[in-house]
Amino acid sequence: MEVSKGLLDWMGIKTREKTELGDFQTPAILASQVCDLLVRLKISPAAVVEPTCGTGAFLQASEAAFPNCDLFLGFDINPKHVEAARSQAKRAKVRQANFFAENWPKTLKELSEPILAIGNPPWVTNSALGSFNGSNLPSKSNFQRFNGLDAITGKSNFDISEWMLTRLLEWLSGRAAVLAMLCKTTVARKVLRHAWKNNLQVEKSSAYGISALDHFGASADACLLVTVLKPGAHSRECDAFATLKSSQPDTTFGLRNDRLVADVDSLGAYERLCGTSPLKWRSGIKHDCSRVMELRPAAKPGLYRNGLGETVKLEETFLFPMLKSSDLSKGSAPSRYMLVTQTAIGEDTARIARKAPLTWRYLESHSDALDARSSAIYRNRPRYSVFGVGNYSFAPWKVAISGFYKHLEFRTVAPVNGRPVVLDDTCYFLPCENEGEAEYLKDLLNSETARGFFRSFIFWDAKRPITASLLASLDIGLLAEERYGTIEPKRLKTRQPELAL
Ligand SMILES: C[S@@+](CC[C@H](N)C(=O)[O-])C[C@H]1O[C@@H](n2cnc3c(N)ncnc32)[C@H](O)[C@@H]1O
Repeated sequence: MEVSKGLLDWMGIKTREKTELGDFQTPAILASQVCDLLVRLKISPAAVVEPTCGTGAFLQASEAAFPNCDLFLGFDINPKHVEAARSQAKRAKVRQANFFAENWPKTLKELSEPILAIGNPPWVTNSALGSFNGSNLPSKSNFQRFNGLDAITGKSNFDISEWMLTRLLEWLSGRAAVLAMLCKTTVARKVLRHAWKNNLQVEKSSAYGISALDHFGASADACLLVTVLKPGAHSRECDAFATLKSSQPDTTFGLRNDRLVADVDSLGAYERLCGTSPLKWRSGIKHDCSRVMELRPAAKPGLYRNGLGETVKLEETFLFPMLKSSDLSKGSAPSRYMLVTQTAIGEDTARIARKAPLTWRYLESHSDALDARSSAIYRNRPRYSVFGVGNYSFAPWKVAISGFYKHLEFRTVAPVNGRPVVLDDTCYFLPCENEGEAEYLKDLLNSETARGFFRSFIFWDAKRPITASLLASLDIGLLAEERYGTIEPKRLKTRQPELAL
């Protein structure tokens, strides 16, 4: 969606950042469809508030949908949008305001109930704001006061709409109110998880899918989140509808035992398997420099071609056949090698010079690229370190899955020419001693029961639908016991082979 040049100039930000502002004005037709749905849901507000109203699509649609409503309030940071909104929504009181500076508890306190907070807050993350950062974010003091910000964001990168919607729900909790906002589905889930975990007084929530591509030209999974608040209410579930027109939900997600569950109805059949895996799930190796650390075999034995197009001669000692997420997902055989410089985190890499001088020289000749890796995990570590490495990385057999892919299929990974195959850091695996153990675990994990268990937790639209914590929450010992009548402790206790490079 085009971001108005006026706003961008007014804010004095550079062109690249202009598109990152998240200024996606809602088309009038979509705003009307949203309001029609709210009328169908029998929502009849006494006051409507649009906290980031833009040019006023939702104010205008609300005026038409709720003729008996007494007050329409709109706010936007951009004075040009404020002007446009004033001319579009004749009954509304619109003023320029920065969401992060507005005294919302006071503004909301003065409103008659039921209150409808409606709109489409900016679709942008704090890190994408770049140099704009600081001017369109909650102030530092607000950040610190904000209870459980970490719990919402999980990390320092978060959508600013997530912050806005979370706070609005907090301020509206205890009132008769409805929040109806367009947002990314990942944002809707995080906002609800925060509301549920913090016992906000939510009566009911629903998420209706919308096509962000059709309406905004954006390729995110998006929805209309409708959350009804009522004093004393205590719902922990959200019905997920495919479209604004759907009358029946496809699924219901919710909070169970402090965990977000994608399908609360199906979980019942598998809840007994929730626990801790007796086997430790591992991630693949991280190196952040594929151009140097990943090589394909060249025409002659001992020669390899790296991602920079160079053909180099290397010893086999530190090279391991590797699989990436995409190989694993397709079931392909390894077609490249990973240069694995360590067998354990922090291991001295200087030994490579003695054991494999060509490899050491190769690393030295690419030290610029390797030293430039910005991630903190390489700081104060031996030069050319990798991450996520341990004896388990070199287990001869593995049962693995990609965290990125949209289907549940565990695969066995066999050694190649007597060398263990390593995985990249987007994959998860259980290390195994031998083929029998790998096949046994693969069958268990691909069983309908295990898949049903995982499916009840997986949100397929997430960036990484399959996570280590999800995998670790299946009590695979109990599953084995149910399936085979007995746990086979030998098979379920993977010993790690010692590796001597
Ligand atoms: C995604 S657009 C949606 C506009 C309008 N709600 C609609 O649905 O058409 C987000 C709006 O948020 C406004 N905005 C961005 N940061 C803001 C802030 N800190 N305070 C108030 N408004 C802000 C932008 O100017 C923009 O109009």
